[in-house]
Amino acid sequence: MHSASSSSYSSPEAAAAADPGRMTTVSRHYFGGASSDRDHHLRVDILENMQEDYGMFVWPCSVILAEYVWQQRPRFSGSAVVELGAGTSLPGLVAAKVGANVTLTDIADNTEVLDNIRQICGVNDANCNVLGLTWGDWDEPIFDLHPDIILGADVLYDSAKFDDLFATVTFLLESSPGAVFITTYHNRSGHHLIEFLMVKWGLKCLKLLDGFSFLPSCKAASLQGNIQLVEITLDKEKPK
Ligand SMILES: C[S@@+](CC[C@H](N)C(=O)[O-])C[C@H]1O[C@@H](n2cnc3c(N)ncnc32)[C@H](O)[C@@H]1O
Repeated sequence: MHSASSSSYSSPEAAAAADPGRMTTVSRHYFGGASSDRDHHLRVDILENMQEDYGMFVWPCSVILAEYVWQQRPRFSGSAVVELGAGTSLPGLVAAKVGANVTLTDIADNTEVLDNIRQICGVNDANCNVLGLTWGDWDEPIFDLHPDIILGADVLYDSAKFDDLFATVTFLLESSPGAVFITTYHNRSGHHLIEFLMVKWGLKCLKLLDGFSFLPSCKAASLQGNIQLVEITLDKEKPK
């Protein structure tokens, strides 16, 4: 995997205070307006740890999906949102800040990532549910989720997990008619794997965008890669 480059601003002092003795940093992400404390409309602070798990830092896909959520904020306000493989949860936090009812999820037994998500919610004063949800597992809480919008940033990175991920996505889409899965993925192989997966799981693409096409230039300058944003829904709703 490529390492994450970030459009963020680190604050070592804040990080040391947050977690003395560990390699934790705080990155700042701005939405709407210039990237400075004075001129933005929204700022989200993320606790990251570069030495730890994939879910402990902000991947470029997350920066791009979070910006998309911000630009589409009227659509998110008042909607039920579930973020899968949320990691440091930037897109879900932006959704919460613009008025969505958000559940942030990651691997059920990865307490470090889940605890970090809870801390990040606290730092940003965001009222989100945090839930262990491993793709392809059918633990009780998943049956209570009826999202209007499912988010997933850089969740298509390990082909061994694609079927589990899409089993969960399809289950959630079926449990909430009209729901949509919005994902940003880093096409590292050059193969068009998303088309193959959609056919296999009875899904269709509503929208496909180059991730850089809507990104402000100040953010695009620090990111690289072939990143696409896709909106996916069920090809046919199940008959009632
Ligand atoms: C590449 S990271 C992306 C993290 C975050 N969405 C971002 O873009 O910054 C992949 C995320 O998927 C989570 N993940 C991996 N396998 C998973 C599984 N089987 N079930 C749920 N989450 C999983 C990881 O813990 C990690 O947070």
